[in-house]
Amino acid sequence: MNALEIRNKYLNFFERHGHKIIPSASLIPENDPSVLFNTAGMQPLVPYLLGQKHPEGRRLTDYQKCIRTNDIEEVGDNRHLTFFEMLGNWSLGDYFKKESISMSFEFLTKELEIPVEKLSVTCFGGNETIEKDEETASYWEQAGIPRERIYFLKDNWWIAGETGPCGSDTEIFYDTGKPKCSPECNPDCDCGKYVEIWNNVFMQFYKHEDGSITQLKQKNVDTGLGLERVNMLLQGKETPYDTEIFIPIMKKLEELQKVDSIYSRRVVAEHLRSSMMIIADGGRPSNLDRGYILRRLIRRMIRQMNKLQIDLNELSGLIDLNIDNLKEMYPELVKNRETIKQVILEEKDKFVKTLVHGEKEFQKEMKRHKEQGKEQLEGKEVFKLYDTYGFPPEVTQDLAKENNMTLDMDEFDKLFKKHQEKSRAGSEQKFKGGLASTGEMEVKYHTATHLLNAALKLVIGNDAHQRGSNITSERLRFDFNCDHKLTNEEKQKVEDIINEWIKQDLPVTKQEMTKEEAVKSGAECMFIEKYPDIVTVYTIGDVSKEICGGPHVEHTGVLGHFKIKKEESSSSGVRRIKAILE
Ligand code: SER
Repeated sequence: MNALEIRNKYLNFFERHGHKIIPSASLIPENDPSVLFNTAGMQPLVPYLLGQKHPEGRRLTDYQKCIRTNDIEEVGDNRHLTFFEMLGNWSLGDYFKKESISMSFEFLTKELEIPVEKLSVTCFGGNETIEKDEETASYWEQAGIPRERIYFLKDNWWIAGETGPCGSDTEIFYDTGKPKCSPECNPDCDCGKYVEIWNNVFMQFYKHEDGSITQLKQKNVDTGLGLERVNMLLQGKETPYDTEIFIPIMKKLEELQKVDSIYSRRVVAEHLRSSMMIIADGGRPSNLDRGYILRRLIRRMIRQMNKLQIDLNELSGLIDLNIDNLKEMYPELVKNRETIKQVILEEKDKFVKTLVHGEKEFQKEMKRHKEQGKEQLEGKEVFKLYDTYGFPPEVTQDLAKENNMTLDMDEFDKLFKKHQEKSRAGSEQKFKGGLASTGEMEVKYHTATHLLNAALKLVIGNDAHQRGSNITSERLRFDFNCDHKLTNEEKQKVEDIINEWIKQDLPVTKQEMTKEEAVKSGAECMFIEKYPDIVTVYTIGDVSKEICGGPHVEHTGVLGHFKIKKEESSSSGVRRIKAILE
């Protein structure tokens, strides 16, 4: 089976079950200025989820082209994609949990012929206002999923962004057959054994700006199945790049490359597909919002082509190859072939010019520095090259190396972070998908706080308990029991330990368990009596275990460099550390 066949099976199956097939909406939202791209199948349907009558009725199904760019820096690994296709079926005030589950189960086991042993599900575990979703669990059990593969999780709740229609969800996971990473390993663990393939959201609520939640006029179902993932799993492949969607372009890149890098080939293949899809739907590169994302995708791709030492004149041929490969899935690519080429090639030319200008500026600066007997370029010069000339710092680094110069990358990173935070404040809200409501930096500081808590125990002793914590996008603040001012040596030790853990790129995993199990497992917690009966425990490698609501980064390698900025008294017997990630 291939991706197109899975898509057709899906649409036909739901058509047979009374759904009208509707076309994919454009990647570029038509009436929704709050998002840069459609990030889920439900987005174009929001008015109908809220109660407006859809001309095609109450049961709909489609495939939706989606772009999610929160993880753009992660592309090149074995799973992150910026463009993906979501297959979906909707009930607009028609069927609800029971039928939704029974149809999903039938589709997976009968149409895709997935053995039931390969499936596990998660259901909403309940919170202060909404109870645990036993009903959904009972339908799964009736369908044929045994109890031991039905899990309850507190964060099985779905909303696109901050406000809007939302509800509890039930997620379906495919067991890849890999061994469990620990005896407790379950679908909530991201070791790679379980892969989420489908999410059924029971949208019956609306979340308002003030955070309050009210009932919608109707009870809806919104589901989304990740096509590239399911395709990959059914073919027994480890990455989407090993499926027919990417094989031709990956092969061609391998043929053309003079330097071997699977990472670079993946970035080129992935970003080329996304860029082509955005352009076909009317997107154009610019320095703003959506246009900037497209610009970044194209420029990242060119950089990686340069790394592979592939002649940029090959681009036109690569576009043709990709269009020919994807034309049945996306006929709009054929219709827009010339535009796609023109836009990508023009952007390439601009970027090449940027690279030429930047290099001239670099040579000038280098000469000036050498004349002054300096061997290092300041961070602010690297930043100026980046900010004024659009010159990527990796390129500056390559040039510096060739010219026997070093760069002050610490200073650059600081300036860059400042700049990023400023621009993020403006645009991040607009292109977030999923549950995330916390900024990237806050999430990093959150994980760094757990590391600090663990490192202090090693340096000060096991009595150094957490007494308070506060996080902003700029820093973390952490209060803990300690009877003395930390010495410079102690501070240094804490920093070194944490930076070593960051370097080790420890995995951060989370698990649901009862409060008792959590305490027994040695999980750190502040006020045990304040927690609900089922808690989430975050584990970082084998260095930290804490009861915590999250969110956290997936692995510590992304945290950067940990530095203590201040250590002071907070109250009697309690010290306070302020620290940053640079
Ligand atoms: N809207 C849900 C999601 O994106 C289900 O389609 O996961």
